[in-house]
Amino acid sequence: MNRRELLKGLASLAAFGCGCEESFANVPMPAEKAGMPPYDSQDHFVHWMQVNRGEDPKFLAERWDRLQALFQHKDIWGAKNVRGYLLTPREDFVTPANLGRAYVWHYLDIGFGVTITGPHTVARMTSVLDVAPGAKVLEIGTGSGYQSAYLSNLTDSVFTIEIIPALAARTRRLYDSLIARGYVEYRSIKTKNADGYYGWEEFAPFDRIIVTCGIDHIPPPLLKQLKPGGIMVIPVGPPGAQHVLKVVAMHEPGGAINVARSDIYGGAPIAFVPFTKLEGGMVKGTHNNE
Ligand SMILES: C[S@@+](CC[C@H](N)C(=O)[O-])C[C@H]1O[C@@H](n2cnc3c(N)ncnc32)[C@H](O)[C@@H]1O
Repeated sequence: MNRRELLKGLASLAAFGCGCEESFANVPMPAEKAGMPPYDSQDHFVHWMQVNRGEDPKFLAERWDRLQALFQHKDIWGAKNVRGYLLTPREDFVTPANLGRAYVWHYLDIGFGVTITGPHTVARMTSVLDVAPGAKVLEIGTGSGYQSAYLSNLTDSVFTIEIIPALAARTRRLYDSLIARGYVEYRSIKTKNADGYYGWEEFAPFDRIIVTCGIDHIPPPLLKQLKPGGIMVIPVGPPGAQHVLKVVAMHEPGGAINVARSDIYGGAPIAFVPFTKLEGGMVKGTHNNE
């Protein structure tokens, strides 16, 4: 094991709960200054990222390979979204047991009965969200923290809510350990342990809202917290077969909100972890109407 692998292992242990409080700075070039990594070839990308971001060539090669699949399947578009994907080390957001599968197509277990969303779904939802620099973005369902980490490469104003207290705390520790290692872009992510159905009133309204758990309706509080003309991406439908909708809010005079919806998968259902709720302080049941 080389020194970088050792440091990375220690940081990941700290995040996943060993209680270590070491801090590491091994990212030579902050994301803000990093510009666009070259991605015309795997070699160019891996070399540039090793020099500028100090990352492991094995994972970098896998990240580049997955990008080719994202392009092939039209799951990512726009230079800013490609850059966000390339600068986000997915291997730091999977559990140690899944390190070898960090860049596989599908979602992976992260404990607590929930998952990290697969890279194709994350990339498509993020591309549809079309986040401009400075936009205020709310995520419901922090989970592993990967989605908000990706978003922090698009804007410096990210808010994310997780309902499971121990998972929210673990991901907060992970962000803190990554910030200490030099991923200072994650300083823009505000985290909270709460039921995301009610949004985050204190920081509303938001330019963009992304929901990463499935529900059978659009939560009215989230719609209210979306700016006029704002975009929400949300999986809506029965358990295990949601349609991922792009929702554009139009606020009418008099307070009514009209929405324009479109299915970002052209009608194909996608399974998401349920949008759960709190009952007596415990995570219990879902917010589904039926
Ligand atoms: C698919 S998972 C994680 C996705 C996450 N964005 C990622 O990439 O790891 C969805 C997450 O939504 C969380 N969740 C479910 N209901 C929620 C609620 N009412 N409020 C906040 N988070 C919720 C789950 O606990 C889970 O962590």
